[in-house]
Amino acid sequence: MTAEAMADAPTGRWKRLKEATAAAHQRIDTRIMAAAPFASRERYGLFLKVQHAFHRDINNLYHLPELQSAFDDLPVRARLTAVAQDLADLGFPIPAESDTAHEMPKFDAPTAAGWLYVAEGSNLGAAFLLKAASRLGLSEDFGARHLAAAPEGRGISWRKFTAALDAMTLTKADEERLFAAARNAFERVHALVELMMPLPGPTAPASQPEIAT
Ligand code: HEM
Repeated sequence: MTAEAMADAPTGRWKRLKEATAAAHQRIDTRIMAAAPFASRERYGLFLKVQHAFHRDINNLYHLPELQSAFDDLPVRARLTAVAQDLADLGFPIPAESDTAHEMPKFDAPTAAGWLYVAEGSNLGAAFLLKAASRLGLSEDFGARHLAAAPEGRGISWRKFTAALDAMTLTKADEERLFAAARNAFERVHALVELMMPLPGPTAPASQPEIAT
């Protein structure tokens, strides 16, 4: 491989990826919060359904042989079992796979890393979500297990992941696939939110406004 074929600088990849997906993140954050996921356990259950469908999509990626040397702790990061347990804690059924079936891409290492970036990053922001969930009586031990921090701490776990992402040896074309995959993953989650987290209806005004005659 020639030097030209390599991505310009392996360091800084994560920062560029963060910048490239910032708008997609903001869009999904706003859309999820508009669906009032912490207004009640019922509404939180809709968020859990989205999380379950997304983590079911990507669960195999945590075990992809091509990624194990770059990310040495990948299998323990998978959160599908925790989301399923959260649904069970609250008495919600596991949504049928056929309800959310989606054609996934062919996962080579860069594509898988792009999807995993989105899933792992969402655990960083989950500190805020866990705090909101605690107001519904939920915790790392009940109903909000999948929002728990890694035992080593959220920050350390995230720095390890992004350092591994930066250290991957990728061609320019590989890196472009990784970036496109992260954008596709955000789009997939957005589509799941649209499907499973309808916006709450308008609340009736407390009193009818006076109509001038
Ligand atoms: C209610 C919705 C959400 C809120 C309030 C939220 C909030 C946050 C916050 C505060 C951070 C930054 C944490 C820090 O730097 O310490 C973050 C990071 C992140 N979140 Fe979210 N998030 C939400 C939903 C999601 C979803 C659904 C996904 C994707 C499935 C996601 C993916 C990410 C990613 C990839 C990062 C890491 C960005 C980076 O530093 O590279 N977030 N989120």
